[in-house]
Amino acid sequence: MEVALKIWRYNGETGERKLERYEVEAPEWACLLDVLDLIKDKVDGTLAYRKSCRMMICGSCGMRMDGAAVLACKERMLPIVERGHVPVISAMGNLPVVKDLVVDMAPFWAKLRAMKPWLEPGYNEPEEGKEYRVSQQQMNVINKESLCINCGCCVSECNAMESDPEFLGPQALAKGMRFVGDARDQRTVERLEDYNSEHGIWDCTRCYFCNQRCPKGVDPRDAIAKLGAESIRYDIDRDMGAKHAKWFVTSAKTTGWLRETELVPKTQGVVSAIKQMKFAMSLAKHGKVPLPFPPHVADDVVEARRLYNLVKEQGRDGALGIVQGERALAHIGLEDEPDKAPASRIAAEVTPGKMPPPAEG
Ligand code: SF4
Ligand code: SF4
Ligand code: FES
Repeated sequence: MEVALKIWRYNGETGERKLERYEVEAPEWACLLDVLDLIKDKVDGTLAYRKSCRMMICGSCGMRMDGAAVLACKERMLPIVERGHVPVISAMGNLPVVKDLVVDMAPFWAKLRAMKPWLEPGYNEPEEGKEYRVSQQQMNVINKESLCINCGCCVSECNAMESDPEFLGPQALAKGMRFVGDARDQRTVERLEDYNSEHGIWDCTRCYFCNQRCPKGVDPRDAIAKLGAESIRYDIDRDMGAKHAKWFVTSAKTTGWLRETELVPKTQGVVSAIKQMKFAMSLAKHGKVPLPFPPHVADDVVEARRLYNLVKEQGRDGALGIVQGERALAHIGLEDEPDKAPASRIAAEVTPGKMPPPAEG
């Protein structure tokens, strides 16, 4: 097949940037990475990009196709050629470009290191020759986070990082959850304290682009939600984001509705609420917000309270509750379109929840 690509070339020394069009003959099974290799071999040896495994494992070949991050070794070209489309290839976003499609990953690795991505075991060493085992149910909490290959596709598309480059970002926080949720780790509270600091979990804008672009089904936004839920479970709620989330829960439990008019005082404090009083009155005058008193109580509020109590009783008010929600969604996905359910969600369904038998001897 004849494949055409437009590639944004960048010269790091001169700062020159230009869009070049390339056309090569490629086999029908070719992926984007194969086409780049053909261009480099046959047309222009100066084209720069990263690659290694060619099988979606090493995470080296992240780049943008038509403005959205992809792994070049995952993108099949045949359907694109059949549509007669000429995709535009560029370097990943939110990281400094070094040359053509190569970005400087140093800020990415620095944030990963800030997560302290290693286990700090919270148990005594087992007797010689023995090992500790973690149940499948315990591992399900971090099943998706463990799939990350550090490709940076999520970081490339992160809205929050675009406005605040210091934001820890989806990949680092997903890695953080991988250790917070690990039953063997003892630094849970310290880790959560770190991730709750400035530029941490509550700065995420919940745009979900990271979930959408991750090629491995890690769903980093869900990992950040788990970190938020765990933070509140451990009473780490000093951030306005945490207070905001807590008020949603209190509000739903007490009235079955979101009590919007009380959201500002409960989240930002009374002083800030007083400062915004004039604005609030004008909203109320134009019927944009309901009056706080008497609060509107849903007819079936008792159901909301029952649900709240059940979650508390079963200890599902942290990450476990979110995992349960994912599993419920996976059921819907599997029933409707079994072929399209993400691999990670199918894996999460393998949940015997049984501890393996103790090692013999
Ligand atoms: S959901 Fe949050 S972490 Fe993910 S891309 Fe959007 S802002 Fe970034
Ligand atoms: S979370 Fe997904 S997109 Fe982000 S670095 Fe890991 S594998 Fe890549
Ligand atoms: S070359 Fe390794 S993930 Fe694409």
